[in-house]
Amino acid sequence: MGKKRSLTGDRPTGKLHIGHYFGSLQSRVKMQEDENLERFVMIADVQALTDNFNNPQKVRDNVYEVLKDYLSVGIDPNKTTIFLQSMIPEIAELTVFYSNLVTVARLQRNPTVKTEIAQKKELFGESVTYGFLGYPVSQAADITAFGGELVPVGEDQEPLIEQCREIVRKFNNIYGETLKEPEVVLSSNKRIKGLDGNEKMGKSLGNAIYLSDSDEEITKKVMGALTDPGRIKKDDLGNPNICMVAYYHNLFSKDEVKKVCEECKAGKRGCVACKKQLIENIIKELTPIREKRKYYEERPEELRKILIEGTKKAQVEARKTMERVKRSMKLDY
Ligand code: TRP
Ligand code: SF4
Repeated sequence: MGKKRSLTGDRPTGKLHIGHYFGSLQSRVKMQEDENLERFVMIADVQALTDNFNNPQKVRDNVYEVLKDYLSVGIDPNKTTIFLQSMIPEIAELTVFYSNLVTVARLQRNPTVKTEIAQKKELFGESVTYGFLGYPVSQAADITAFGGELVPVGEDQEPLIEQCREIVRKFNNIYGETLKEPEVVLSSNKRIKGLDGNEKMGKSLGNAIYLSDSDEEITKKVMGALTDPGRIKKDDLGNPNICMVAYYHNLFSKDEVKKVCEECKAGKRGCVACKKQLIENIIKELTPIREKRKYYEERPEELRKILIEGTKKAQVEARKTMERVKRSMKLDY
């Protein structure tokens, strides 16, 4: 049996936080043990521009931030091909071909796109750009350019993969069997809530701990986290189910969380001490990651080399796909 390909990626619009860490990064590292898999991870800078076209420097800077985050958590360039979307022109070419196979109405109905447009009123006003509306088409190109069969993503991405499957089916129907239909691999971890209890974690909400945060930043953020508001004195009986510190103990203090909750409920634990214990455990978990990050921060040349080498490998695959696509579409002049 041949190896299966997996393809996934991130928009480089900010540093990665612990939501990414538990949500997708850990599972990508784990997937590296699977010998029957060929893994590709894309830094989707062209997609990032669809909602940051007015801020190219932000995208540029974050390409390297995301790359450093990948490497520091253990995504290994010898086991996973890490590459840059904008350096693969075939993706843009495929996007144009696929755009004939999707209706505007279908894109407007895509739940992920719909949600995002609603969130980006400030950027788009009343009318969204052609590029943003069409980014699912470009994402279908991302996946199929590398023959991606497995796409490890979170739930929010499912409608995009469904759209890709539709494009693939339509393409194969019209032009003949050429492309592979991808399948979602949902990461087992659900979305991690922010320190304020918000379902979403992010920079604009100020409720995320970044993999690159310093001890001071971590301390400040955890000290400000949402706890059981009913607890004022140490011997008040607490409810860890409504406390974000308990929620994070569950992620970072696996061996201690049971005791934490018992003591909280019994009024035998102070919130400040409880937070300090959590801070210590977060720092313990993130220290080796930050050390690796520091190594790469001091070696920009090495970073660049990793990105270029990965992109070269990815390029070979995209060229092969393009040849087959052009043959099927009778564009093989
Ligand atoms: N849309 C993804 C996100 O916002 C990033 C992405 C771009 C992606 N291309 C992809 C994910 C291809 C999976 C496969 O996080
Ligand atoms: Fe939360 Fe800990 Fe305070 Fe209980 S003791 S409310 S778990 S911070």
